[in-house]
Amino acid sequence: MFEHMEKYAGDPIFRLNEAFHRDAHPQKVNLTVGLYYDNEGHIPVLSSVKTAEQRRAVEPAPRPYLPMEGLASYRDAVQKLVFGPDYPALRDKRIATIQSVGGTGALKVGADFLHLAYPDSEIWISDPAWDNHHSIFQGAGVRTHTYSYYDPETRSLRFDQMMSELQALPRKSFVLLHACCHNPTGVDPSPEQWLQLIPVLAQRELIAFVDMAYQGFGTGLDEDAFAVRAMADAGLTFVVANSFSKNLSFYGERCGGLSVMCASAEEADGVLGQLKAAVRRNYSSPPAHGGQITSDVLNDADLHAAWLREVAEMRRRIAFVRKEAHGQLKTKLPGYDSSYFVKQHGMFTYTGLSSQQLQILREKHGVYIIESGRISVPGLNTRNIGYFTDAMADVLGA
Ligand code: LMR
Repeated sequence: MFEHMEKYAGDPIFRLNEAFHRDAHPQKVNLTVGLYYDNEGHIPVLSSVKTAEQRRAVEPAPRPYLPMEGLASYRDAVQKLVFGPDYPALRDKRIATIQSVGGTGALKVGADFLHLAYPDSEIWISDPAWDNHHSIFQGAGVRTHTYSYYDPETRSLRFDQMMSELQALPRKSFVLLHACCHNPTGVDPSPEQWLQLIPVLAQRELIAFVDMAYQGFGTGLDEDAFAVRAMADAGLTFVVANSFSKNLSFYGERCGGLSVMCASAEEADGVLGQLKAAVRRNYSSPPAHGGQITSDVLNDADLHAAWLREVAEMRRRIAFVRKEAHGQLKTKLPGYDSSYFVKQHGMFTYTGLSSQQLQILREKHGVYIIESGRISVPGLNTRNIGYFTDAMADVLGA
């Protein structure tokens, strides 16, 4: 009955991660999936999370279904984290927020919602993109296109070209933007560039869909939300997906948020209803355990303070590894410009390595990097970075 079905080639990111785990190479290095590892190569269980879980484990509570929109305390905390605790729109109830199944779940529900609201609109996504952005929107029935973003020659943003392409889009088009730590390039617009871009969104009546999967991994939790808060200040109507996978080290718990900034409390109420309807059609309600723990960490003053320190520590380690990789490559490959390691920031760096170079890194050295040449930086640590930079020198020096 299903013989005609095309074989799934696998996800370009997870496929290589699986290949890494099958490889018996004794010094293999995994730089594939965007997972934060500590210096020992472990995915950390944050102490704030551990304490919240221990407290709840003392007297395990029943697990009824959560409401379709998720826990109220979680949703409030998401709004404060994304928009800032004192943002007037919170008080005015102009933001419709749901607890989502990770950042990806937020993107899917948001895509379903936008397609329902504007069935003829299409979406423009950065070139290059996180591959799943195209898949998610296509899966929701939205046609996808790309806008210029990254210049491989200069390893920087094609800002002027991006601006002129956005200026030419049909009204009510959707535009996918990364709030910070652009995946896959690690190159973001500067605050000044955001302030130039936002009026274009307003004048062209474009609907921004902001993906903020790495809040806290760039410059800071507030600083990384600059674009979102500047759009809110400019009075735009837009959509934001945020994720706790990275900044709470909570990948498998699937905790995220979807927020729609509206013009009035009445509009937000209507939007929330449609988001709930989309949730009910997709998965009915979000997972309770992760939601409860996330809410505990964000809402308890002590746990929140501990979490802020833990996010800062993860961010500092990423910056340290970037500096170290740059320093070592400067010595080992004097003719090679590795400054991109320190100019790009957040979880990912974009190496520009060719397919052939990536294959040698993989097959000869056991260093796994996805086909786009994107490195997930926290896969490096003080024990494997020398091995990694030796392997890079071998491949690039040849
Ligand atoms: C990544 O880009 O590696 C992460 O966002 C994980 C994923 O779901 O692809």
